[in-house]
Amino acid sequence: MIASASPNIAFIKYWGKRSSTAWHDRNIGLNPSLSLTLSQARTETEVRRRSAGPSAVFINQQPASEKDSQKVLTHVREICRELGLDPQSAFEIHSKNNFPQGTGIASSASAFVALTLATLGEVLGREQARSYLTVKNSELSRLARCGSGSAARSVAGPFMKWDGEFATPIASTWKLRDTILIFSREHKQVPSTEGHERVLSSPLYQERLAMRVRPRLAAVENAIAQRDLHLLGPLIEEEAEEMHRVSESGLPPVIYQKAETRQFIAALKAQTSRDFYFTLDAGPNLHVISERPVRGEMEALLHKLGITAEIWEDWTGEGPVLHS
Ligand code: PMV
Repeated sequence: MIASASPNIAFIKYWGKRSSTAWHDRNIGLNPSLSLTLSQARTETEVRRRSAGPSAVFINQQPASEKDSQKVLTHVREICRELGLDPQSAFEIHSKNNFPQGTGIASSASAFVALTLATLGEVLGREQARSYLTVKNSELSRLARCGSGSAARSVAGPFMKWDGEFATPIASTWKLRDTILIFSREHKQVPSTEGHERVLSSPLYQERLAMRVRPRLAAVENAIAQRDLHLLGPLIEEEAEEMHRVSESGLPPVIYQKAETRQFIAALKAQTSRDFYFTLDAGPNLHVISERPVRGEMEALLHKLGITAEIWEDWTGEGPVLHS
């Protein structure tokens, strides 16, 4: 069975998770989060049962590393176990992204949703698997979350709120764009798994949890309900900067931004009036959120600052698709 899914960009970040031992308890955020599901970046994954031979995993047409294979196969086995099926069946799995790696586009979210849905399709059949896109969507979210936390929010769209075990959609007809400025494709020095742990040591973290995240999330929900970019924008910027501030004040600190990121943010903030706002994930690349295309303006500003960046343009999406 083949399934595809898109990444999401968080407006309120999942940063810091509960400790867990069991597979089904993995990756539960210490705070609720909220995101926009994208549409243009896609991961497409094929899962087929093998009648003979061991399991094999291919990512972007190459045999996956031992570590990645283990992650993928553990996920498939645990899904089988949850469904009461034989976890020892062998599978051949092919996964590919239409977007470049290491760009600040969260490939683990789209990857684990596509993998989860394709696995369900392969082991349960198309009709049953289709119900995970509708009545059982929160179950798809819960299963995908066990692979990667942010995947909980890539199971539908256009906006998703995740609190606890699974994420649920926020209905809206608001179309937003995410113009991603890729300053660097270098591999992250600190993977997000470690970032989630280290941030707990920041003296600012408890205050973020206790005082700031929930009111900000409620304000973001209100801005979405009102479709008001000038309400939403300052909130997502404040949230992204807070996420980076808590990371940078952890022990040891985690610094994701590059000089170009800071320089570009300063230039954006210096503009007296604008209708585009930024957010950042655990990396140096900037996501510019707007209602209209802004690529031209971003290119002009990059040019003015003497910074080079690749640009990926994306926009609102509705979630995963089960293909065949
Ligand atoms: O799903 P993970 O473990 O890669 O966590 C990613 C968390 C952020 O992307 C930094 C924020 C978020 O909410 O997506």
